[in-house]
Amino acid sequence: MDNRPRRNRKSAAIRSLVRETRLTPDRLIYPLFITADESAYNPIASLPGQAQLGEKELLKEIEESLKIGINAFVLFPAVAETLKDETASYSWAEENFYLHRIRSVKERFPEAVLMSDVAMDPYSSDGHDGLVKDGKIVNDGTLPILAKMSVAQAQAGIDIIGPSDMMDGRVGEIREALDENAYTDVSIMSYTAKYASAYYGPFRDALDSKPKFGDKKTYQMDPANSKEALREALLDEEEGADFLMVKPALCYLDIIAKLKEFSSLPISAYNVSGEYAMVKAAAEKGWLDEAKAADEMLLSIARSGADIILTYFAKDYATRFLNGNIHH
Ligand code: PBG
Repeated sequence: MDNRPRRNRKSAAIRSLVRETRLTPDRLIYPLFITADESAYNPIASLPGQAQLGEKELLKEIEESLKIGINAFVLFPAVAETLKDETASYSWAEENFYLHRIRSVKERFPEAVLMSDVAMDPYSSDGHDGLVKDGKIVNDGTLPILAKMSVAQAQAGIDIIGPSDMMDGRVGEIREALDENAYTDVSIMSYTAKYASAYYGPFRDALDSKPKFGDKKTYQMDPANSKEALREALLDEEEGADFLMVKPALCYLDIIAKLKEFSSLPISAYNVSGEYAMVKAAAEKGWLDEAKAADEMLLSIARSGADIILTYFAKDYATRFLNGNIHH
């Protein structure tokens, strides 16, 4: 036999020599849930290991993460039902605790990269990402709201705006509003191919942000489609996005690979709440080895072409990485 692929697998050192994918913690973005209650640490039942954090716990979590090589964070607000309305007006209000948290994190850790979520759902009494009129999610009426939210976040010091709403034209509208207000340095990571997925369930529980009627299928993408992702990517590029995201990650590795090939922009992938919860739940039952399953999952996302991964496993992964314990 001339060819024996097993020769390149014969020892840990050889496997390491020929390994094609290496995932370092500086490519991870750690999603954090935050709440107005200053001293809170409210564990999230559907996301074991994650909690809604008050200011103190948020700063602590970021400090610990920075120490182990995680430099980037995306923040999601848990907003009290009484502050929600039809136009998501709390999202740009002076007193919005989310904006205050961005300020205090950037003050304390200027080196941390902070990314926001831009969509109406955490602030909307309808629980949708866009404005609702006569039972429909209207596109163009939503855009100025997203732009206002983005400018308020930029003013607070955010590094990257993350529009997760899937309205048409939002990247361009946000870019224009940022530039008009002299925030030309603030980046946009567009949720380019965000699919209408069942895997967001635990996240919506965490923020109590489920749609109050219907579903998100008129704006999030159909899981059956792939060419449509290229169409979205082209538009986002034209409108000035700095990064393109695919979400969820696992069921959409083909889309990640496609966008990586198609675009010269950095590609990110969101390893969403349901993907994390599946591993956690199976591990709790003793059916999967959590660390091995998580490492394999993250490596596969990187292998498929993601330059950046948003993941709730960030801290666990970085800890294993530091200790030389990544499972290959
Ligand atoms: C809100 C938003 C969602 C997620 C990120 N931003 C939920 C949704 O669109 O319903 C999901 C993240 C996750 O599941 O981890 N627009």
